[in-house]
Amino acid sequence: MREELDLLLADIASRTFETADQVEAFRVEFLGRKGKIKDLMAEFRNVAPELKRELGPQINKVKGAVEERLAIEQAVFKKKKSAKASGIDASRPAGGQPHGTHHPLQVVRREIVGIFKNMGFEVVEGPEIEDDWHVFSGLNFPPEHPARDMQDTFFVERNPDLLLRTHTSSVQVREMEKRKPPMRIIMPGRVFRNEAVSSRAHCIFHQIEGLYIDENVSFADLKQTLLHFAKRFFGPETKIRLRPSYFPFTEPSAEVDVYWGLETEVDKRITKGTGWLEILGCGMVDPNVLEANGIDSKKYSGFAFGMGIERITMLKYQIGDLRLFFENDKRFLNQFSGER
Ligand code: PHE
Repeated sequence: MREELDLLLADIASRTFETADQVEAFRVEFLGRKGKIKDLMAEFRNVAPELKRELGPQINKVKGAVEERLAIEQAVFKKKKSAKASGIDASRPAGGQPHGTHHPLQVVRREIVGIFKNMGFEVVEGPEIEDDWHVFSGLNFPPEHPARDMQDTFFVERNPDLLLRTHTSSVQVREMEKRKPPMRIIMPGRVFRNEAVSSRAHCIFHQIEGLYIDENVSFADLKQTLLHFAKRFFGPETKIRLRPSYFPFTEPSAEVDVYWGLETEVDKRITKGTGWLEILGCGMVDPNVLEANGIDSKKYSGFAFGMGIERITMLKYQIGDLRLFFENDKRFLNQFSGER
């Protein structure tokens, strides 16, 4: 009988159940009126008295093992049943936790910076609260230049020499002060202008500035660098054109357009019927700027460029209203959840 009890214990432990009916059959098999436990009790009555002490607890152990398995299995199938009734499929893999998304401006900033990093540019940042020298005077803005006008610039009330930078070109000045050529740097950051907020303008926006200074840097280097960037960012077939322009700190200066096409009504509207879209301003660093920052303009030359991240993001994702970037509406932000 001792052996039989051991076998039963092993049997009970090894059972598996696919359905609630199988659990019920197991219950009847052991605990039913003609079940195995009943049989064991009958057998036990005929056992020699000296063995009863040992075998009694063993039989109880078998019975306990059956009851334990039943309690567990019955609970499992009860749960499955109620899950089924509620329409929940407990066998499905669990869904992931919802996670946050990268802001579209951040996605584009990283992509742009990454392209220039691959070309050997180093990333640097500068302060948002600046002084007149770094934003204007050090960049060859004459004292009467309209960009200094109260309309464009937020000045700090207590100290009119302090202002919120209106462009990231201020970081160029800071880096020229600190470094010796050659330098090849890319400078992302937030800028501020006193403009009425609309679908096309905001008082806060973001720029990425680039600066390359070395011996024999030419306008051709500037153009090739920007063409390479445009192809990497907008696609290998992208065409660019340079239009003459004016900035106080570059000479010659240009604005760069990418060819967008004229296929749809939207293309016609956003390119004002030309097919071309402006993406950035650039030029050869004015020798006055190099000299003002302690760089020998006879030995060195350089190029600089600056682009608006909002503008480029709006082009890339066909976003019609700049204000969406600053409202943090999750319905907008969640559309970028796949972007890194
Ligand atoms: N700072 C200029 C702007 O904000 C852009 C620019 C940067 C132009 C560098 C030329 C060179 O519009």
